[in-house]
Amino acid sequence: MSGYFITFEGGEGSGKTSVIESLNKYFTEKGFEVVVTREPGGIEIAEQIRNIILNKDNVQMDKLTEAYLFAASRRQHLVERVIPELEKGAIVLCDRFVDSSIVYQGYARDIGMDKVYDINKVVIGEFMPDLTLFFDVRPEIGLKRILDNLRKVNRLDLEEKDFHNKVYEGYQKLVKRFPSRIKVVDAEKNIEEVKQETIKIVEDFLDDLSKV
Ligand code: TYD
Repeated sequence: MSGYFITFEGGEGSGKTSVIESLNKYFTEKGFEVVVTREPGGIEIAEQIRNIILNKDNVQMDKLTEAYLFAASRRQHLVERVIPELEKGAIVLCDRFVDSSIVYQGYARDIGMDKVYDINKVVIGEFMPDLTLFFDVRPEIGLKRILDNLRKVNRLDLEEKDFHNKVYEGYQKLVKRFPSRIKVVDAEKNIEEVKQETIKIVEDFLDDLSKV
C-alpha cells in the first residue's frame, strides 16, 4: 500500500479532532491527498454501529458486547474506507483506532489488554498504523474542556472519574509498549502549540520515510 495510515488517540477532551482538521488543511495545501475519518464510524454501516455503542440509553451493555461492536465497526471501516484510500496513496488521518479498544475495553473495562488486542487481530490481522499520536492530557483537564465547549456528551463520557483515570493509565502503558509507533504530544499546552507540534511530528515522519 502506498499511502500512510496515521491515527490519533487520547482521552476525552484532548483536542484531537480540531488538530486533525489543521493537519488536513496543512498537508492538503502541500499537495498531499488527505482523508480524514474517525472510529467508531466513518462510513454508514460503522456509524450505525456507533449509534448503538454510544447511545446513552444502552446502560446495560455488556463489556464484551461493547468490545466486539467496536471491532465490528473497525472491520467495516477498514475494508470499506481505510484500505481503499491507502491503496490510492492517500494520507489517512483517523480519529481513534485499535489502541482505543486496547485501552478503553482492555484496560479501563478490565477485559485485559492482550485479550482485546487478540479479538481485534481477528478483524485487522497484522494491519497497524504507520504512526500514532497520543494526545496527553490529564482526565480532569480533558473533561473540563468538554463541559466548557458544550460538546455532545455520550455514554462513555458519562463514566465515573475512576474510569477516565484508568483510560489515562492505560494509554501510559500502551505508549511504553509501542514506543516507536506512538508519539506523545503534550496536549495540555494551548491548541496552537499543540497543532504546531503535531504538524512537526508528522512532517518529520514523512521526511524520514522519503530518505529511506
Ligand atoms: P467520540 O464522540 O468519537 O469521542 P472522542 O472525541 O473522545 O473520540 O466517542 C468515542 C468514544 O468511544 C470515546 O469515549 C472513546 C470510545 N472508544 C472505545 O471505548 N473503544 C474504541 O475502540 C473506540 C474506537 C472508541
